[in-house]
Amino acid sequence: MGMENAWQEKVTAERFAGKTVVVTGAGSGIGKATALRVAKEGGKVIAADISRERLDELVAENPDLDFAVVAGDITDQAVVDQVVAAGEGRIDALANVAGIMDKFEPIHEIEDSTWERVMNVNVNSVLKLTRSVVPLMLEAGQGNVVNVASEAGLRGSAAGVAYTASKHAVIGMTKNSAVMYGKKGLRFNAVAPGAVQTNIEAPMASEFAQQVIPPLMGIIPGMATASQLAASITFLLSEDSTNINGVVLASDTGWSAI
Ligand SMILES: NC(=O)c1ccc[n+]([C@@H]2O[C@H](COP(=O)([O-])OP(=O)(O)OC[C@H]3O[C@@H](n4cnc5c(N)ncnc54)[C@H](O)[C@@H]3O)[C@@H](O)[C@H]2O)c1
Repeated sequence: MGMENAWQEKVTAERFAGKTVVVTGAGSGIGKATALRVAKEGGKVIAADISRERLDELVAENPDLDFAVVAGDITDQAVVDQVVAAGEGRIDALANVAGIMDKFEPIHEIEDSTWERVMNVNVNSVLKLTRSVVPLMLEAGQGNVVNVASEAGLRGSAAGVAYTASKHAVIGMTKNSAVMYGKKGLRFNAVAPGAVQTNIEAPMASEFAQQVIPPLMGIIPGMATASQLAASITFLLSEDSTNINGVVLASDTGWSAI
């Protein structure tokens, strides 16, 4: 437990008033904290997650907040279509947060099924949902997309090959879209979390990785809370980040500076 956990979230009233914001992975961890922060600041949140149980809990625990929930696998175009439909013609901002880890497998150990699932959830779903939301944003002449990458999008020692490649891809999509749509009033940024206390499963099952990775993890300066990540993500989702487009914001207790 580092000093960082003494940090207390401070809500900025009305920062998202009148805004419709999509948050994927809203049932747990960073996505849940982001959905809550946006809703507490007056936004309507379209909360998407594969777990209906988690979404039901989010709504039950926060009856006064404005949530529209979509339960389903976000890699599925039908679920993507439901998310877009829930916006009723308007989506001001999109936070692509849902993601899964690999088991630290290096390239000679990775199985097709793991590679495909990690790429599907972490990359293809971001493609599908963003592709479906951007036309609404272009029509509105404004829009704000935040993709959750990872320290694994910045370095080779934070995960296995599948997750590392997937998060580098997320950063590539973010930068290309920032350039493509910048003049149309849309902004695209990424947040690269370091270690964060959530429900994500990240077992170092690979014995090969166990011989290589742990000493490199000794440099990690600390563990953040999901609310700390939500603070970084909502900064980029809000108009406070006007003039910021195409950045990868490390929110990692300083890990990337080492
Ligand atoms: N926790 C960390 O240390 C850490 C570090 C770097 C990056 N990240 C990234 O942060 C993001 C959020 O992770 P978290 O740590 O909050 O994890 P989490 O497991 O607590 O939450 C992720 C949520 O996404 C949902 N989800 C997973 N696959 C889905 C799918 N196919 N369709 C819809 N929903 C799906 C899960 O049900 C879960 O509720 C991920 O992209 C992850 O890669 C996390």
